Amino acid sequence: MKKRIMKLLSLGMVGVFFAGCSASAASDVSKEKDDTLKVGIVQYVEHQSLDDIYRGIVDELTAEGYEDGINIEIDYQNGQGDQSNLKTISSKFVNENSDVIVAIATPAAQAVASETTEIPIIGAAITDMVSAGLVEDIKQPGGNVTGVSDMAPVEEQIDILMQFVPNAKKIGIAYCTNEVNSEVQVKTACDYLESKGIETVITTVTNSNDVLQAISTLAEKVDGLYIPVDNTMASAMPTISTICEENKLPIVTGAAAMVEQGALATSAFDYYDTGKQVGKMAARILEGENPKDMPVELSKDNKIYINKTFADIIGIEIPKNLMEEAYEIY
Ligand code: TRP
Repeated sequence: MKKRIMKLLSLGMVGVFFAGCSASAASDVSKEKDDTLKVGIVQYVEHQSLDDIYRGIVDELTAEGYEDGINIEIDYQNGQGDQSNLKTISSKFVNENSDVIVAIATPAAQAVASETTEIPIIGAAITDMVSAGLVEDIKQPGGNVTGVSDMAPVEEQIDILMQFVPNAKKIGIAYCTNEVNSEVQVKTACDYLESKGIETVITTVTNSNDVLQAISTLAEKVDGLYIPVDNTMASAMPTISTICEENKLPIVTGAAAMVEQGALATSAFDYYDTGKQVGKMAARILEGENPKDMPVELSKDNKIYINKTFADIIGIEIPKNLMEEAYEIY
């Protein structure tokens, strides 16, 4: 903690030297340069929701007075959905002695947490911090990890799907088994559907290469499809959407960006806002707070998103109440 305060002080000093604008100031600046606060950001994979989170984090850090290249140095790395990449990136951040590491999505946070129990870690949009083994208690994290959880309103999302297909007997669910975040949501979805007497057909994949085959097979067996907040599925959304179009299969997803890319509807968070929430927590760490005393926060204000173009393509009517409630119609 002391080190961080020293860094902030020395940065203040740099400002003063600059104001004086003496010739020797330049060398002071370069000397102080290695003392710039280091923020490592690792994103699990590329898809729009996670990209939105990243933008939100950077914008909020800037709004809080931490600007990349000025008083902080942001090292942004993408794991491309690959476990060994995540490990390499995590150990790099640890070796470089980052002041805070922000990990976007569950697998990224798990990778970083397994590399350090010292450096503060902020998990960004982690569905369930406890199931992911990142904190023991969301109110009192106790260790070096805290963050923002985006546990989706799964039951509300299933209700939306059932409004489109009120007579459905079988609902398909697809997710990636490497993602604990999805397992938690799928359990909720299954229990809820079962309580309504609806059969669920579950298909899993282990990586994005399997998605085409898995969804094509599933599409023929079910009356509707639910895909939770799953990174692998989100990154394969164009493929999934095409299969659903071909099969005229109603699909509801966990995230708004997935609806925008070709699903019927959802009730979901604005992930740019989640990113801003994460950025605020990262700024508090840079100011010297300790993650062990920072309760896990929750994403707020889920809203209804609808894709009218997709509904028209598969020839399904959008329930009037949903249209009226919609925050955004694509
Ligand atoms: N919640 C996911 C996780 O814990 C990450 C995530 C955030 C995500 N927004 C998303 C995944 C949208 C898919 C789609 O890993």
